[in-house]
Amino acid sequence: MQTDEPCTITLEPGTHYICQCGQSMNRPFCDGSHAGTGKQPHALEITEPGDVTLCGCLQSQNPPYCDGSHLKTR
Ligand code: FES
Repeated sequence: MQTDEPCTITLEPGTHYICQCGQSMNRPFCDGSHAGTGKQPHALEITEPGDVTLCGCLQSQNPPYCDGSHLKTR
């Protein structure tokens, strides 16, 4: 997924690595493409299954969650 829009997905309990470099071809998840960028994925710990809304613009002040920052760049 290559988009600046947030996405809401259902995650199961566990650790999910969320892309923070914008280079992953499997966004919102890290695919290792951050190598050499100086960025690292956000390790998101989920304890209960449920929906999360994740940042797609990489400008959120509360990563990896959307905080509405994508609306400020329009
Ligand atoms: S591919 Fe973007 S943080 Fe890993």
